Amino acid sequence: MKILIVGSGGREHAIAWKIAQSPKVEKIYCAPGNAGIEEFAECVPIKAMEFDRLAAFAKEQQIDLTVVGMDDPLVGGIVDVFEAEGLRVFGPRKNAAILEGSKAFSKDLMKKYGIPTAAYESFTDADEALRYLETAKFPIVLKADGLALGKGVLICNTLEEAQAGVREIMLDRKFGSAGNCMVVEEFLTGREVSVLSFVDGKTIRTMTSAQDHKRAGDGDTGLNTGGMGTFSPSPFYTKEIDEYCQKAIYQPTVDAMAAEGRPFQGVIFFGLMLTADGPKVLEYNARFGDPEAQVVLPRMKTDIIEVFEACVDGTLDQVSLEFEDNAAVCVVLASDGYPVQYEKGKIIDGLDTFKDRDGYYVFHAGTAKKDGRIVTNGGRVLGVTAKGTDLKDARANAYKAVEWISFENKYFRHDIGKAIDEA
Ligand code: AMP
Ligand code: GLY
Repeated sequence: MKILIVGSGGREHAIAWKIAQSPKVEKIYCAPGNAGIEEFAECVPIKAMEFDRLAAFAKEQQIDLTVVGMDDPLVGGIVDVFEAEGLRVFGPRKNAAILEGSKAFSKDLMKKYGIPTAAYESFTDADEALRYLETAKFPIVLKADGLALGKGVLICNTLEEAQAGVREIMLDRKFGSAGNCMVVEEFLTGREVSVLSFVDGKTIRTMTSAQDHKRAGDGDTGLNTGGMGTFSPSPFYTKEIDEYCQKAIYQPTVDAMAAEGRPFQGVIFFGLMLTADGPKVLEYNARFGDPEAQVVLPRMKTDIIEVFEACVDGTLDQVSLEFEDNAAVCVVLASDGYPVQYEKGKIIDGLDTFKDRDGYYVFHAGTAKKDGRIVTNGGRVLGVTAKGTDLKDARANAYKAVEWISFENKYFRHDIGKAIDEA
């Protein structure tokens, strides 16, 4: 089979690595890809939002299956464009990707179908939102309705902070049109867990659990980022919790989307909070997590192409999804100053150390090739993943491997997986 992957980050590198393991695959392309993905795929200089050019490329190269990694093209309707051209594609259509694309939509869906989530109100008018806040309890959570690179969520401790937040989102349009509408939500406390799943429109198969670390600094301090590291599985996500979520959250979400005439095919990422009142949905994403994919996919035993095809064909009930009985930890190596301001173009050394070492992976997020060398080219530069017999072993291996890599202004969190010690 010939496969085209759409995307360019660490997640797409992990997807490319996993696809390359499949005996069914003879050739992989990635658009636009990055310097690391080149190891497994031929990178094509077409951007993820250039749907017509991507579809034309897929036709020309007789691509058997396109896999879309990123949220923007999914929410923008890339799958509909490919399907209209008769091309096979893994990912939700536009009318289903709205599960991630609009927080107001997803909150209304959960309310309508009784799926546990934080209490909320949505607003399209800033004055109404400001009036509502006057009688609200704090802390409170403000969310821009649309996609905002994971940065459209503000946790506000006081009325003044919340008022400023409403102005930023709805009046100053800090997140652009994502702020046309806003959700104001009850603040939840508990452990966060990410559960990714494959869905074929009716059947859902969940992958092993993971936990992300969103803040930039050690001890969960500093600004929110795209994710500074992950571990898998989450020791807090017990069998009992899983059984509850399968019944109360996962299948009901898939059924709700089907009932709304928006059957979901692709990956649903459930961002959960394990509260004292039970698990609640914080958010849905319509794609693999980044950097969750970098710890979940290395532990997956099943051929991912078989799973992708079953999702597209509606035969996922015939697939049994298997994961290794071990653990993985990913530490993101970033450029110092991320997520605000940072330098690029620093030469990266040590990448070869990962070659042919079982259980160690280096996934490229923001890198480029310059004069035959690999250089930094983004805030998040690399994801260093290691497996281990258990979480502690995996964590020790990951932090050992972090030392194999060097570049000027290398920055990383030292406490990825610290929560493991409290399990
Ligand atoms: P989201 O993009 O919706 O996942 O939100 C980003 C982050 O904000 C989450 O990973 C949580 O850490 C935090 N968050 C979102 N919603 C809530 C909530 N209702 N209560 C507490 N924290 C939240
Ligand atoms: N790691 C969180 C996300 O991919 O949205």
